[in-house]
This record gives sequence, structure tokens and C-alpha cells, in this order.
Amino acid sequence: MKIEGKHIVVTGASSGIGKSLVEFLSAYEGVKIVAAARRSELIPKKEGIIFAISLDVSTQKGVDELFSFALQKLGHIDIFIANAGFTYTERLIKPDWGHISDIFSLNVFSPIYSLEKLMAAEGERQIQFVTLISGVAYFPLPAYALYCSTKGALRLFFEAYRFEKNDNLIVSNVYPVATRTEFFEKAALGSVSLPFLSQDQETVARGIINGIERDKRNIYPSLLFRLFLPVARAFPFLIKAYSLNEKRKVSDILKS
Ligand SMILES: NC(=O)c1ccc[n+]([C@@H]2O[C@H](COP(=O)([O-])OP(=O)(O)OC[C@H]3O[C@@H](n4cnc5c(N)ncnc54)[C@H](OP(=O)(O)O)[C@@H]3O)[C@@H](O)[C@H]2O)c1
Repeated sequence: MKIEGKHIVVTGASSGIGKSLVEFLSAYEGVKIVAAARRSELIPKKEGIIFAISLDVSTQKGVDELFSFALQKLGHIDIFIANAGFTYTERLIKPDWGHISDIFSLNVFSPIYSLEKLMAAEGERQIQFVTLISGVAYFPLPAYALYCSTKGALRLFFEAYRFEKNDNLIVSNVYPVATRTEFFEKAALGSVSLPFLSQDQETVARGIINGIERDKRNIYPSLLFRLFLPVARAFPFLIKAYSLNEKRKVSDILKS
């Protein structure tokens, strides 16, 4: 979908990939963007182009408020980018329902419910729904079991949903590799080294915009990952070898 003139919603716009997306998208002619995060003061500012809102999209109330605000400011939505997400870097030890529920609420429930809201609001119009999934939807990482499971769930949800969706909707799944943002700092109790292959947030954001413009169903901001993925899926021992290699990097966390 062409970006010019489009009305766009971006969640998780106060840092990392979402912040870069808002910066780059706002440079296109005629766009209007509703940008959401809890720390709305960190969202890039551009009078009359970027409309920031502070809310928590991990709740139904938060997503409902986001749609009300977006439809009021923009009139309609052409592109929705479900970007907000987080991880824990941890060894799972004690039973904790809230812990599991928090990550699934933001990473899984929120994008799926947002898609439902978008379809309800924009039934017949040509629209695009973009979801930040992750390379870990294919490659299980030790110390990230809950995170990997949220992204694996998202991948399968959207792959299944493609078979039942209306033709007016383009579903784009984004599979970034490790990206140098606040993401890992927020997640780790101590310092943790990034998984193999990492990119900066600007490269990932440019890759996403490029994929949107070309109506890509799957967007791989890392070319290396794009090339390696089919090989690894054909030879599953490569995926296992990768996971075991990553396990060494988080051995302190797994021991604690
Ligand atoms: N970094 C990576 O290595 C990597 C790799 C693959 C995929 N991804 C995915 O890419 C997306 C963006 O990650 P990132 O690296 O840019 O992370 P980030 O820098 O930590 O940014 C996360 C964004 O989500 C927002 N957010 C978190 N919880 C929220 C909530 N409850 N309600 C509303 N907004 C919330 C944060 O804003 P506030 O805190 O202000 O609310 C922030 O703007 C995530 O879905 C992540 O899973 C990341």
C-alpha cells in the first residue's frame, strides 16, 4: 500500500522500532499518524501530523480508547501497526498466573483484538494490518520461553487468519531479528548479550515501510535471516544448534 496520504496507527511509539516508524512515516506527504504508548511524552512531535496518546494497549479498555481516539482524529484508518510488545529474560521457577497473563495480554491479545476492531471499523475499505512478530517465532531461545510462545502464537494466528480474511485486508507479518532498542535492557535482571545477528531500529523500521509499500505478506528486515530461514527449517538440527549456542550466553540467568 502506498504510504502517501494514509491514516496510520502505530502502537509502542515511544521507543525503539515504533518510534523510528513514526519518525519515518511522518515524512511522507499527506500522512496522519496516531501514535500510542504509555510514555506519550517520548513520542516524536509534529503538529497536525502526529497525534500522540498515552494509554496501555494490553487491556481491552486501552485498545477501545485507542480506536475511539484514532477515529476521532483521523476519520478512518488505512494502516494499523501493532508494534507494542515486551519480553522477560528469565528462568521460569514459581507458578505466577499474572506474569504469564501480562505478556500474553500485550503481545498476543492486543494485536488480535486490534485486528478485530479494525475490521469492525473499516469493513469494506482497503486496509493493511502489520504485526511485529519476531524471528523467535521460528527459533526457540532459552530464557525467553514465554516471549517465544507469544510470538509463535501470533505467527500461527495470522497465518491461519489469512485463509478466512476478507480481500480488502492485507495482513503483513514482520519478523525482525534482535534489534538494539530498550527491549533487552527492560527485560533482563542483569546484563545480557544480544542473540546472534542484531540490527539497529532504523534499519528495521525502513524494512517495515518498504514491505508495507510492496504489500508484503511477510517482512524480513534482515536479509541474512530471510535467506537462512528456509535452510534452517529444512534442517531442524540447525535450529537446535542455534538454541543451544544461545543457551551459553544466558547461563547465569538459567542458573539463578
Ligand atoms: N528488540 C528486538 O530485538 C525485537 C526483535 C524482534 C521483534 N521485536 C518486537 O518489536 C516490537 C517493538 O520492540 P522494540 O525493540 O522497539 O521495543 P522497545 O524499544 O522496548 O519498545 C516497546 C514499545 O512498546 C510500548 N509498550 C510496552 N508496553 C506497553 C503497553 N502495555 N501499552 C502501550 N505501549 C506499551 C513501549 O512504550 P511505553 O513503555 O511508553 O508504554 C515502547 O514504545 C515488539 O513487539 C517486540 O516484541 C523486537
